[in-house]
Amino acid sequence: MTALTLSTSAAPGLRADAIVIGVAKGTKGPVVAPGAEAVDKAYDGKLAGVLETLGAAGAEGELTKLPAPAGFKAPIVVAVGLGAEPDAKSEDDTYGAEALRKAAGVAARALAGSKKAAFALPVDGPGALGAISEGILLGAYSFDVYKENGNGGKAKNGKAPLAEAALLGGKPRDAAHKGAVARAVAVTEELNRARDLINTPPNDLTPAIFAGIAQTAAKEHGIKVQVLDDKALAKGGYGGILGVGAGSSAAPRLVKLTYTHPKAEKHLAFVGKGITYDSGGISLKPAGHNETMKCDMSGAAAVFAAVVAAARLGLEVNVTGWLALAENMPSGSAVRPGDVLRMYSGKTVEVLNTDAEGRLVLADALWAASQENPDAIVDVATLTGAMMLALGSRTFGVMANDDAFRSVVHEAADEVGEPAWPMPLPEHLRKGMESQVADLANMGERMGGGLVAGLFLREFVGEGITWAHLDIAGPAFNEGGPFGYTPKGGTGSAVRTLVRLAELTAAGDLG
Ligand code: BES
Ligand code: ZN
Ligand code: ZN
Repeated sequence: MTALTLSTSAAPGLRADAIVIGVAKGTKGPVVAPGAEAVDKAYDGKLAGVLETLGAAGAEGELTKLPAPAGFKAPIVVAVGLGAEPDAKSEDDTYGAEALRKAAGVAARALAGSKKAAFALPVDGPGALGAISEGILLGAYSFDVYKENGNGGKAKNGKAPLAEAALLGGKPRDAAHKGAVARAVAVTEELNRARDLINTPPNDLTPAIFAGIAQTAAKEHGIKVQVLDDKALAKGGYGGILGVGAGSSAAPRLVKLTYTHPKAEKHLAFVGKGITYDSGGISLKPAGHNETMKCDMSGAAAVFAAVVAAARLGLEVNVTGWLALAENMPSGSAVRPGDVLRMYSGKTVEVLNTDAEGRLVLADALWAASQENPDAIVDVATLTGAMMLALGSRTFGVMANDDAFRSVVHEAADEVGEPAWPMPLPEHLRKGMESQVADLANMGERMGGGLVAGLFLREFVGEGITWAHLDIAGPAFNEGGPFGYTPKGGTGSAVRTLVRLAELTAAGDLG
């Protein structure tokens, strides 16, 4: 990952490959954002005009390169768009964290192959430094291990990520400044590891391999880890996880990660859908719908990353992570449409569509999580195509059995820059899941399919436990081009929301 340093140096004297500055959209054209005063001065105060001539408007995602002024040690200036200039007259007169994150991400990605860049973006405190750090570390991400000669991110076909970034305006001796950067490093390192797991092809990431990676990382960070293999799952009666994994030669696993803090007063449980590949099973997905289904373990990857990040940050909260890992494949031993599974909770489920497998593995993990009676459970899953149809590919849906908690989750997501939207759990959709032979079926009405899946999960949450469900089917995997600090492929969706929830819980702000 890119090495970050805080620097009080002035831009002109800095030895770097580029100086990154911000340009915002003013009412009368582009304006140079604070932090770039020295650069503007060297352009005789005419930098905004130069940028406008070059076609810059200050829009989000925009990037303009220009030669550095004479006397600068760095050869080029990279101006990145920050969107609308904040209104100096309003209370909210600073650049927002998400605008800084995106701009820093765009610059870091464009600077791949460079050794060092100095970031002279608007910094008014630790919050801004944290956001810029996150943007750089997330934007510089690349996944090259499978490229020819790919090692250590130095792929033959691609450029190595930006090696070093100096953050101007940051004070190296200021505890709050250092703390903000350290938090960003811990969270984004784990988030980028989640992206690696999502991008890893399914022949190299079976449930057993994923469980092994979780075990190693957990031990490294003082997290207790327990892995139930197929034998232990059978003994324990985990019919949902076993049923989904029955068709694959790679057996399922349930991983439990336990992070505890001696002063913790609250306990959060995170549950992740970890289908290492979703072929649909006997209800096989058609070509065109299965090429990206290695991403179906993104929920488990997010939970894994969030628990390790919470441990690295030493948050005063107990966090348990449950990774429900299985591969959904068709074969002679696979679960069939019409089979009835006896779930860990004791309920029976008629499997009408083997492609609705996520809710089956989650049901067992939610019930297992419920047995510890945590203060709240949050599950994360690439659960339904329907949620993607509803909210598009950048926003995840938030459902909950408690309106106040759904708002807490939504606000946490907002705060960290993850687009999310509240979705209802309409009671009338429950009857569509009634089964002739079992307690319920794993499918209901097609319309509102994302909400039906949420209602199914609710059946497996212990009585009286606060629960929220994040359906990240849309934002988990970016099939389009990179944007902001989001790369193509695995995005690490929901990691930052979960970490924020753990922080809020530790601070006693869960509501
Ligand atoms: N993993 C898919 C959902 C999905 C679709 C995730 C697209 C990411 C992108 C899930 O297991 C699935 O196949 N769901 C079915 C449920 C249906 C059979 C009730 C769906 O959404 O079509
Ligand atoms: Zn499926
Ligand atoms: Zn799936």
